[in-house]
Amino acid sequence: MNFTEPMFASPIFADKTLLITGGGSGLGKAMATYFSQLGANVIISSRREDLLKEVAAEITSITGNKVLAVAADVRDHDAITDVIDQSLKAFGKIDGLINNAAGNFVSPTERLSHRAFESVIGIVLQGTINYTLALGKYWIEHKIPGNVLSIITTYAWTGTGYTVPSACAKAGVLALTRSLAVEWGRKYKIRLNAIAPGPFPTKGAWDRLFPESVRAMFDPSERIPMQRVGDKQELSNLAAYLMSDYANYINGEVVTIDGGEWLENGGQFNDFRHISDDMWDQLESMRKTKS
Ligand code: HXC
Ligand code: NAP
Repeated sequence: MNFTEPMFASPIFADKTLLITGGGSGLGKAMATYFSQLGANVIISSRREDLLKEVAAEITSITGNKVLAVAADVRDHDAITDVIDQSLKAFGKIDGLINNAAGNFVSPTERLSHRAFESVIGIVLQGTINYTLALGKYWIEHKIPGNVLSIITTYAWTGTGYTVPSACAKAGVLALTRSLAVEWGRKYKIRLNAIAPGPFPTKGAWDRLFPESVRAMFDPSERIPMQRVGDKQELSNLAAYLMSDYANYINGEVVTIDGGEWLENGGQFNDFRHISDDMWDQLESMRKTKS
């Protein structure tokens, strides 16, 4: 057994319908594929209709289960109402939402226009609010104990330079998650959780955040105690667990999956890893000589 293998053997989502934003690429596609393998009716939605249709057919050919593809921009409230209507028509109900769609780019902040901020905050924060509110109202009206999982990042709480719009937006999504986990958890048994991934190589993220010229300067795995980047299946395994009824007592939580990256770079003395054993021997003998 290893972390690149699917974790669940039984179809834990056999009676569930799960909607994944940004489900046509990267981590969203990996989760959609795994949830479908686990028996879920899956809806994938993002802006590129051709890609969505192609990916839905590809997933169905692997799993044998129906995948609905509906194009919509998460910033457009009418469009997401249509996604929800089409999903209900196809599957009768929706049990869970994965807020995975995102927009991001790297830039010194002083070079950004206000529209650049609006774009990323609109996709990541307002888009997450749009879907969470629309499905929350539907769950409350129909007395369904819904389940929301949002994909954030570790810089939602550390902050970071050079992707400041994304940091602001992801911090907002974390606040939304913790706030509604309490408000809607108590009143309606609706659970909300988040996953904070470290680096997972996807085309969408790598093209925008680690372009070829930058890649030569920074190796993301160097910053990580486990000295590797993430594998899509291990994130999908965690997402499946959090979306399943096995995680019924987990609410308002953010689970970090980053090989220890953010703690290593936050801990004051962690750079002492560069001190060799010989130098530690010298330091120890100096200490013993003094005492
Ligand atoms: C500076 C930029 C820019 C860039 C766009 N803008 N790209 N500014 N640097 N690289 C500015 C534009 O000039 C414009 O402002 C404003 O942003 C809106 O641009 P549009 O092209 O109209 O935006 P839109 O069509 O809404 O596209 C959204 C996008 C794009 C975010 C800009 O990159 C996108 O579609 N991304 C989707 C997928 C994605 O980003 N995936 C990565 C997620 S990875 P002006 O003033 O000129 O009008 C991730 C990982 C985090 O989040 C952690 C990793 C470890
Ligand atoms: P990705 O493939 O670029 O995924 C982003 C998805 O969001 C795309 O499918 C994109 O599809 C969709 N999207 C963007 N804008 C949209 C909009 N306005 N409306 C609807 N859909 C939209 O990148 P990824 O790496 O898989 O990222 C997935 C999630 O993981 C994101 O939330 C990201 O912040 C998070 N994350 C990733 C990493 C990593 O290392 N990869 C690390 C931490 C967090 P369209 O362009 O077709 O709309």
